Amino acid sequence: MEIHNWWKEAVVYQIYPRSFQDSNGDGIGDIPGIIDRLDYLKDLGIDIIWLSPVYQSPNVDGGYDISDYQAISQEFGTMKDMEQLLQQAHLRGLRVVMDLVVNHTSDQHVWFIESRRSKDGPKRDWYIWRDGCDGGPPNRMSSVFSGSAWTPDEETGQYYLHLFAKEQPDLNWENGEVRRAVYEIMRWWLDMGIDGFRMDVINMISKPAGALASDGGAGRECVNGPRVHEYLREMNREVLSRYDIMTVGETPGVAVEEAKKYGGFDSDELSMVFQFELMDVDAGVYGKWNQRRYMLTDLKRILSQWQTGLEGCAWNSLFWSNHDQPRAVSRFGDDTSEESRVLSAKMLATCLHMMQGTPYIYQGEELGMTNMPFNSLKEIRDIETFNAYRELVCENSIYTHDEMMARIRKSGRDNARTPMQWSSAPNGGFTDGVPWIGVNPNYTSVNAAVQMRDPESVLSYYKRIIRLRRQYPVVVYGSYSPLWPDDEKIFAYTRSLNDMRMLVICNFTPDTVERPDIESCYPKDAELLIGNYPFPAKALRPFEARVYYGGAA
Ligand code: GLC
Ligand code: CA
Repeated sequence: MEIHNWWKEAVVYQIYPRSFQDSNGDGIGDIPGIIDRLDYLKDLGIDIIWLSPVYQSPNVDGGYDISDYQAISQEFGTMKDMEQLLQQAHLRGLRVVMDLVVNHTSDQHVWFIESRRSKDGPKRDWYIWRDGCDGGPPNRMSSVFSGSAWTPDEETGQYYLHLFAKEQPDLNWENGEVRRAVYEIMRWWLDMGIDGFRMDVINMISKPAGALASDGGAGRECVNGPRVHEYLREMNREVLSRYDIMTVGETPGVAVEEAKKYGGFDSDELSMVFQFELMDVDAGVYGKWNQRRYMLTDLKRILSQWQTGLEGCAWNSLFWSNHDQPRAVSRFGDDTSEESRVLSAKMLATCLHMMQGTPYIYQGEELGMTNMPFNSLKEIRDIETFNAYRELVCENSIYTHDEMMARIRKSGRDNARTPMQWSSAPNGGFTDGVPWIGVNPNYTSVNAAVQMRDPESVLSYYKRIIRLRRQYPVVVYGSYSPLWPDDEKIFAYTRSLNDMRMLVICNFTPDTVERPDIESCYPKDAELLIGNYPFPAKALRPFEARVYYGGAA
């Protein structure tokens, strides 16, 4: 018997506030801008908004460096605006989940300012300080954003740990005062009425002693550290269990077995986690900075493993993209022609939304927004990209400038951060001023206004796909079973619930594919629920997606 929860039946929409809608012409998206677009989101049919950080921040890492968890960034508005947003969202039946970034703070947070001041101050132990070793850092641990994870501080001569940018010092979760301070902030937001948290790199909060030792620091030792489950259960007891909310952990480096601990139905930790195996499907020697395209068999193996692995004991979060990833249609589909862009964006929506789990739509994905044709570093804003450029081009000459620009166009995070394309007005209707990052020049044809009028648009298709979730319980609770795992062109699977069966078939290629054995897989008295071609055919056409529904027998 399936366990029902509202967050399993919901669709989440991620907003990256800086790039969503500017309301006052300063070129930066803001909270009043989001409020103006709530009707658009309601019309799309989503249930939950996940807001990337809107807290006070020096914005070294797109707001993921927070200097005050209980203040709104001036660029985004005021606490009054935030209250308005909550109220207006709730009025429309939309819930709001906030980003919780507590593996680290900004180096401008008062906690860190106090911590760095002296070796024996009361906040010293709130962060992770070590003596250097032989005139260098305490060990060879490197930051996710390139370079050493340790930065020396003039004040006391010691080094502090930062798994990300040097402006993002890691909190010391071993310290009970730190944990209590975090829980207090969480309760404060929940009492204000928010509906949950997306927890930034939450599986990195427990650092193994060995990783911090002078001979440690190799590899990804800080992922899934020794006390992480103890901390999350404590957080659940002290905070989460007291509210009717949803939580999702961002957990890079987590495999199926580990995910069951974080998000198991009886784990008393989180509602679910984001898995990143799929995001590594096209990684190479230098991580994502390469030109590899994924193999469909790898993609299917990963997704199927998560589908069957969590079945009955934990819940999947389903996503193709977010603010850290390139655009879904450019990466997993085909944006080389208008026709293939539209077809493959719909195909990807079908493939993902019909699986078991809670789907996450990243802003603009519902329009089939594409990667950005970045031509020079001047157009880039992202710290991760700059650091990677420095490391791979300037310091180690792994790539030439042109080679690296090609990799940035393929994998850089700014691809997802160009402004939302609302209309064919200047700057895509995002701002009347100068946008903080360039608008994708294809906004004149790829935009919400055009797609709202077109029943065949990607946007209209997303609305239909979302509606299916409400109409057919099999979409939410059905069990998953893959077909033809070795097929390099077709992704097909079934979902079954009680006496009903659904068959999902997706052609991931620009080729027409014959699969005469399909018909033997059709459900009984099959009806076509949705598809991205206007009339039927036997063979699977380029990027075709079809969903059939009928009896199990
Ligand atoms: C997460 C965020 C990313 C950020 C990093 C450090 O991965 O999604 O945007 O840069 O954590 O906070
Ligand atoms: Ca603004």
